[in-house]
Amino acid sequence: MSDSKIIVALDYPTADVALALANQLDPTRCRLKVGKELFTRSGPKVVEILVKQGFDIFLDLKYHDIPTTVAKACAAATDLGVWMMNVHTLGGGAMMMAAREAIGNTSDRPLLIGVTLLTSMDQYTFEQIGLQGSITDTVLRLAKLAKDNGLDGVVCSGQEASKLRAQHGDAFQLITPGIRPANSEQGDQHRTMTPIEALAAGSSYLVIGRPITAAKNPMAALHAIEQSLH
Ligand code: C5P
Repeated sequence: MSDSKIIVALDYPTADVALALANQLDPTRCRLKVGKELFTRSGPKVVEILVKQGFDIFLDLKYHDIPTTVAKACAAATDLGVWMMNVHTLGGGAMMMAAREAIGNTSDRPLLIGVTLLTSMDQYTFEQIGLQGSITDTVLRLAKLAKDNGLDGVVCSGQEASKLRAQHGDAFQLITPGIRPANSEQGDQHRTMTPIEALAAGSSYLVIGRPITAAKNPMAALHAIEQSLH
């Protein structure tokens, strides 16, 4: 168990490469995110290995299906021992409530997080699928729906964090990707924030991939980010 606010995105195609990176990191100093590519290629085994090594795992599979199916997937992820998992809020309140019930109420249960609208969704795509109004209002509405149905928090951009923090209080978890330390490559991210800016805006946890995983010395990159937070 770590008390770090940094979640390193293990965006790798194979377990070997992911585990090699994890071997360079200290499980007391960061948590790890396993997403669709790594999970689809390597399966739950890689999660089990990382959990055994002491890492807190955010299983980022964004479940979105009928309530029974999502509930069973969430129960399976709970059995894997993950620390955090997520579902799509667009699956609706009944789906989120079923997911929340499936992970139980033990003190060490995983955190259940909602994805509102993907940041890749622009106004054109938003309207293409029949949604109306503003993207920001929709994100705020879906975050409230997530909270009302028992979810622990949502994934959100740094730009949305301060509004969500003000609306939902300190206990609501805000998970923020698109983080770039000062002077680091933006890559394909557009509206980025530095780690300290995102925490100041109200984010609870920072999802950071390439600034750590593509560094020559990932632990040194992590250390530099920790220093920037003090
Ligand atoms: O390498 P980088 O720091 O850009 O990685 C960010 C991680 O967060 C990736 O795993 C990406 O898929 C994820 N993510 C994101 N933006 C979202 C949701 C998830 O960048 N809105």
